[in-house]
Amino acid sequence: MTANDTADQPRESRAIDAAKQAAGEAAAALVHSGMRLGLGTGSTADWATRAVGRRLATGEIHDIIAVPTSTATERLASALGIPLATLAVVPELDLAIDGADEIDPSIDLIKGLGAALLREKIVARAAARFVVVADGSKVVDRLGMRAPLPVAIVPFAWQTHLRAIRALGAEPALRLRPDGDAVVTDDQLLILDCRFAAGIADGAGVERALRERPGIVATGLFLGLADTAFIATADGVTVRTRTR
Ligand code: A5P
Repeated sequence: MTANDTADQPRESRAIDAAKQAAGEAAAALVHSGMRLGLGTGSTADWATRAVGRRLATGEIHDIIAVPTSTATERLASALGIPLATLAVVPELDLAIDGADEIDPSIDLIKGLGAALLREKIVARAAARFVVVADGSKVVDRLGMRAPLPVAIVPFAWQTHLRAIRALGAEPALRLRPDGDAVVTDDQLLILDCRFAAGIADGAGVERALRERPGIVATGLFLGLADTAFIATADGVTVRTRTR
């Protein structure tokens, strides 16, 4: 630790926070007056939400309506004065902005370490444009190399998925809170974090195999959904666009 580091937040962590802020704010600049927005979940997406709130408060943009992807984002957006709706009222969105846990070269994603993957996927699908925001540590050559794949499941007979997930080459673990209880999502689901030792070679195949099992509600694989990624490092924000 150097003299410039605080005991709470060493320099590396401050650099990552600054990158998250830069990525989130760059994506929030895409928001125009009158847009219907999807607001993502997590520390990077929060920066985008704060920037949207600030731009609304200063009058730079107006007539925004937003659908949050979690109760946490709902609380933040509401505190910022961002008008909120549900997809039942506003079923089609112009733009959704969300974070990611991994981003591969095709801008396919793993999401869900924040446990909001089901709502995030529903909102991303409802958006004409889905933009992902992240710091450079989220970039990988192949999905699953670093992050586990979160899988949201109904609690009933959840153990029955373990063998099937192992057969796909992954080691599943029920996500637990620090007190040892299971993490329960906003939709009362459990999460299995599935570690693929060699990464995920066939994302579409894994998605298909998991989704055909009754009780598996959503996976954290976001394939073909994001069209743009704002990735920030100490050198600035890089914009990647899906090419296929
Ligand atoms: C939430 O469920 C996740 O999909 C988040 O988008 C993801 O965990 C990114 O979070 P950070 O921006 O906090 O790294």
